[in-house]
Amino acid sequence: MAHTIVTIAGSLRKESFSLKIANALAKLAPDTLKLEVITPAGISFFNQDLEGAPPADWLAFRDKLQKSNGVLFVTPEYNRSIPGVLKNAIDVASRPYGKSSLLGKPVGIISNSPGPLGGVSAAKHLQNILPGISGLLLQQPEIYLNAVGDAFDADGNLIKDSLKTVLQQYIGAFAAHVAKNQG
Ligand SMILES: Cc1cc2nc3c(=O)[nH]c(=O)nc-3n(C[C@H](O)[C@H](O)[C@H](O)COP(=O)(O)O)c2cc1C
Repeated sequence: MAHTIVTIAGSLRKESFSLKIANALAKLAPDTLKLEVITPAGISFFNQDLEGAPPADWLAFRDKLQKSNGVLFVTPEYNRSIPGVLKNAIDVASRPYGKSSLLGKPVGIISNSPGPLGGVSAAKHLQNILPGISGLLLQQPEIYLNAVGDAFDADGNLIKDSLKTVLQQYIGAFAAHVAKNQG
């Protein structure tokens, strides 16, 4: 059976490039992976006061992660870091203390930007955040996607062949990483 990968596009924007990249990956993934693309929409603000009786949306998000075989982050860069909505989702996933819903899950990080630097700072921040609360991070290949602004048509289809090639290579490597690192 295919491994289920929760693929989190870290933007709430309707025309988000991160979301379009996540959807493109879902189509390019090998048969061994089934990508479920989500965004942080609907995940309420983390508040430590609520940990005793967590809101339903936190529980549903944690449950989705726990039932997955891996997690893929497709993040934009906001002010040289990840968007606050994505950090909030990760904070929700990381609790209760010591029981992160990402523990043992193989993870991958894809950053992107319409600009020249590919969101590399956002990806580096995720590389700092995740190791204490997740399973193994795919280290190679690294992937920082720049100039994504002309990669999609009006219907959100991927039309840039160079990007398609890179995404195909990455998702193939990620499939192998997931297969190797199942708990
Ligand atoms: C608050 C804010 C901060 C941003 N900071 C950066 C940045 O540090 N680096 C960068 O490459 N792009 C930056 N951008 C531009 C984003 O890369 C661009 O808006 C991108 O389309 C957002 O991702 P999305 O398409 O997935 O929503 C910023 C955009 C916003 C709204």
